[in-house]
Amino acid sequence: MPIAKPEMHFFICNSYRVSGQAQGACNSKEAGDLLAYLETEILDRGMDAQVSGCGCLKVCTEGPVMVVYPEGKWFGQVDEEKMDAILDAIEDDEDTSELEIA
Ligand code: FES
Repeated sequence: MPIAKPEMHFFICNSYRVSGQAQGACNSKEAGDLLAYLETEILDRGMDAQVSGCGCLKVCTEGPVMVVYPEGKWFGQVDEEKMDAILDAIEDDEDTSELEIA
């Protein structure tokens, strides 16, 4: 049976460890709150996207880190303001390279 697959998938590092506990750089920078913020924004904007928290993406100094697929774009130092700018750019099909991790 086919499943509904979203156009985009956002992963936010929540620093999960094997134990399931969220510990680490991104989590200590309120990445958990960003996950909830992004979920709300996706719904408010009516975007066909899924949001998932994930384990360490191995660029901890850039935290909080978010990766967007299918584009494979990586964003660092993400806060609510930067999240809004990223979502605005995606919705308007604008270049996000200045917001991405170099
Ligand atoms: S804890 Fe987020 S990239 Fe390592």
